[in-house]
Amino acid sequence: MSQVLERPSPTQQYTISPLGAALGAEVVGLDLAQPVGAELIQLMKQALNQYGVLCFRKQNLTEQQQIAFSRLWGPLEDFPEENKTVAAPTVYNVANVSAEGEHLPDTDHRVIFQKVNALWHTDSSYRYVPAYASLLYGIEVMPAGAEGGRTGFSSMVAAYEALSPEMKARIEPLHMVHSYEHGRRVYGSLPPLSNFEKNAVPPVSQPLVRVHLDSGGRRSLYITANAGNEISGMPLEEGQALHAQLVDHIARPEFCYFHTWEKGDLVVWDNRTTLHKAEHYDMARYRRVFRRTTVAGKDPVFGPFSQAVKAAGY
Ligand SMILES: [Fe+2]
Repeated sequence: MSQVLERPSPTQQYTISPLGAALGAEVVGLDLAQPVGAELIQLMKQALNQYGVLCFRKQNLTEQQQIAFSRLWGPLEDFPEENKTVAAPTVYNVANVSAEGEHLPDTDHRVIFQKVNALWHTDSSYRYVPAYASLLYGIEVMPAGAEGGRTGFSSMVAAYEALSPEMKARIEPLHMVHSYEHGRRVYGSLPPLSNFEKNAVPPVSQPLVRVHLDSGGRRSLYITANAGNEISGMPLEEGQALHAQLVDHIARPEFCYFHTWEKGDLVVWDNRTTLHKAEHYDMARYRRVFRRTTVAGKDPVFGPFSQAVKAAGY
């Protein structure tokens, strides 16, 4: 059911309506190119906490306007790669089209990067303090009725809750190794990381169970398929088998919502509690251009055995 809400200042009505059963909501009636007050951002943060994914429809944002709106949510991350499809260091062009507008061939490494994004993941999980939220703006989207090109989202709160008690107990103390370089294992044709890039994002170990101190100790699964498949402390193959089992689990339709893009959609997701993936599409036939900004996280990932979680009594 839709909620009709008053925008605090200036007075303007907008609606929030759920998009999927597990997660996702659309926000209609706001023009984000106009000045946005702190109160509204607070309301949107609450909505993001509740729904995991918010889609602001019918926006018309320049790069600078997207950066300005994104900064209202918190400091932005720079992208670790040098010289990708980047304009400003805080902007990542998720596109099979170059910054100059050329439709790139499948073999171009900027396009292959998009294929790494086709694996379920959460953005910048390879950082010690991973991202809070990502904002993806649809500039060129698939034509109506074309196959593929959606973005899938999966609720890690729902996925964790649906695990058996035995599996919850098994993964309680475990960590996964997250490495930015893992995409190079999956797609060997990608150019190797430079020393600058390696130094920017060395591998980290993250708990499989994430405890959210700002949500009363709520728990979610924290896992990714694009930044590794190894579980700390387990024999390699046993860990990889557990990882594969969990990746199968999180893809179950009851946890997921697949977003069909309309031009002008600005989709914001919570990287702490959701996963996402780019759905396959015919890259040679269709141009697809998105612009992403990323809001940095405040804290490292806290697991059940983190001092901060014990101190909070969860
Ligand atoms: Fe992503």
